Amino acid sequence: MRCIFLLCLLVSAGFSATLKGDKIERKIVAEKALHQARNPIDDVIRDALELVRQLMLNGTDSTPVLDPFFIEYLLVNFESQDADLLLQVDNTWVTHMAEFIIENISTNMVRLTMELALSLPNFNIDGHYAMDGMIMNLFPLYGSGNYYIHVFDVSLGGGAGLSVGVPPQIRDLHLDFTFQSLEVKFENLLGGGSLETVIETAINALAKDVVDAVWAIINEPFCQLIEDTINQALANMGGEGTDSPALADSKEVGNANAYLDEVLAELRQVLYQTPGVDPKTLPDAYTEISGGHAAIYNGWLIGLSSIHRSADATLDYAGRFITFNGSAGYTNMQAGYRVQVEVWGTGPDAEAFALIRSVDFFFSFKIDAITGAVTVNDFNIYNIGQIDIEINGLAPFDWAFESIAELIIKTIKDDLSQTISTVILELLRQVVEGNPPPPPPAAEILKIAF
Ligand SMILES: *[C@@H]1O[C@H](CO)[C@@H](O)[C@H](O)[C@H]1NC(C)=O
Ligand SMILES: *[C@@H]1O[C@H](CO)[C@@H](O)[C@H](O)[C@H]1NC(C)=O
Ligand SMILES: *[C@@H]1O[C@H](CO)[C@@H](O)[C@H](O)[C@H]1NC(C)=O
Repeated sequence: MRCIFLLCLLVSAGFSATLKGDKIERKIVAEKALHQARNPIDDVIRDALELVRQLMLNGTDSTPVLDPFFIEYLLVNFESQDADLLLQVDNTWVTHMAEFIIENISTNMVRLTMELALSLPNFNIDGHYAMDGMIMNLFPLYGSGNYYIHVFDVSLGGGAGLSVGVPPQIRDLHLDFTFQSLEVKFENLLGGGSLETVIETAINALAKDVVDAVWAIINEPFCQLIEDTINQALANMGGEGTDSPALADSKEVGNANAYLDEVLAELRQVLYQTPGVDPKTLPDAYTEISGGHAAIYNGWLIGLSSIHRSADATLDYAGRFITFNGSAGYTNMQAGYRVQVEVWGTGPDAEAFALIRSVDFFFSFKIDAITGAVTVNDFNIYNIGQIDIEINGLAPFDWAFESIAELIIKTIKDDLSQTISTVILELLRQVVEGNPPPPPPAAEILKIAF
């Protein structure tokens, strides 16, 4: 996020030279970057997590049974301002861990991350304890017997790295553990004088330490089980996908058209809101005609924000770099000029209108899937179509029409080429950078290798 935003700012600095008063609505671009298309592998991961639930109950060759999870022995040394306690627990069972709810799964094929949010309404820790210690350095507090700690409203949030290889895999999964409340009971706890509130506070804090210690023990096999199960599911994704010829040859042209349409919709907004683009002023120009000269001035061009897709677009996912090719352009843009003709010291002020029937350009962008950076691979304006010119008020110098029309056409063409290859292309590049492409179709993921 930060990286992309910085890039925008850098670009804008270099930009104001071309574009007076450049004030692009970067906020829109930045916010849109947060939006991610739904990823097909999210579903695979969701199913894998359902399987994790069962494997927690059954255990696997490499993971012990996690629900119920047995802890033979645990020692917790608790020290605070008011209490100094040594707690030993044994024969402890942790139950209901498998009852987690999948709140959110979000894989990002551009950032190569998987984010995961689970919740657990409740889980229980039950066992036997022995405690010995002092309250306020004065009163002994001790006991042994059964204890339980019930933990409520647990959130498990975290993430993993994603490598888009064959097969795609997640790695380094970590989960952070938080909870809302505890219910605690230690049977046969004796002593402590009459300092009930102090004891209660100390026991609650001690119980929290026990919960953290228990999570620290379960965390690793739990994450390992999730990681193994998801990776197994990703490896099986699409069955023996690669030797299915139908899948192997699929080119998602339609998908890229939808993506380019989305990008251009945003680009239209950006162009519309960028001062000096639509309408745009056109440069003055001048030509000799027999016996004098013609000058064109006060030129304007309307329509640069009406950009649309002009041919099929493609997204080629080949490892780290995604190639995004497409064509875009304009139809029926309008322009105009004031025309001043001067022959032998006299001449009319006329007005010219131009209809630019079509302009189309091709672009090829290289998108770095890791950094999100977008660079221009290739660009060319392959069509500037017919430009119709009409000049009113030229009489009696109608004979100069052709020279003036040629001047107008040349000036418009030069300015359009210049504007499209700098301003338009750069703003398009920025919008693509702010709107990462959709993930590759599931069948394609299998073929991608870094
Ligand atoms: C878990 O064990 C039960 C009973 O033995 C079995 O029916 C089920 O298929 C097992 N689940 C998995 C995922 O191994
Ligand atoms: C799921 O996670 C993504 C990425 O962190 C976030 O943008 C989205 O709002 C979350 N959705 C829900 C329903 O929490
Ligand atoms: C995209 O454009 C580049 C550069 O013109 C070209 O080399 C490449 O073959 C194109 N890719 C596709 C899928 O059309």
